[in-house]
Amino acid sequence: MSKESLSIADTRFVEPPAPNVFSDPTAKAELFSAGHYEKLGREVVARLPNYKQKYKSLMVTDQTEFVLGLLAHYRFPNGDRIKQVVEIGVYNGVNSLYMLKTGCSAAADFQLYGIDLGDTDFFGGAAIAESTPDELAHYHLHRACTALDVEKVLGEHNAGGGG
Ligand SMILES: C[S@@+](CC[C@H](N)C(=O)[O-])C[C@H]1O[C@@H](n2cnc3c(N)ncnc32)[C@H](O)[C@@H]1O
Repeated sequence: MSKESLSIADTRFVEPPAPNVFSDPTAKAELFSAGHYEKLGREVVARLPNYKQKYKSLMVTDQTEFVLGLLAHYRFPNGDRIKQVVEIGVYNGVNSLYMLKTGCSAAADFQLYGIDLGDTDFFGGAAIAESTPDELAHYHLHRACTALDVEKVLGEHNAGGGG
């Protein structure tokens, strides 16, 4: 829409273009140091059930809020949302659960890859128990793997034509 065609009566909310944090150091400092995404992420967490309490999560709340704020609101300079996340060290999967629900709401083609040394159902269990089948189609959990397997894990998914 051109500037000229906007009338004073047009009060629809138009999301401002994301500052380019890659090329503008000031924008980067403002966005990542002022608690901007933590505050946005707090609202995201508040709208979801209290999985953290239910599953006695080890996660640090500020870090979860920061990541969820990014997933829900960050846009790359080309307008894309975050579409792929690799979580190394999943534990019982509470952070995975929050990321999966938020990422799937923000981007239709979101994919979450989880990697953990653990080889039992406990690892990633909360994400598997609480996600819908649609959400689980976007969750790729790799137990009994380490950080050193990242390339292999992502390579397998990309070779399969998946996200
Ligand atoms: C602090 S917990 C992760 C918490 C989780 N991200 C959350 O937010 O709830 C650490 C996890 O990392 C896993 N881990 C430790 N070293 C690892 C490695 N080299 N590769 C993959 N997973 C590892 C452990 O098995 C454990 O589940």
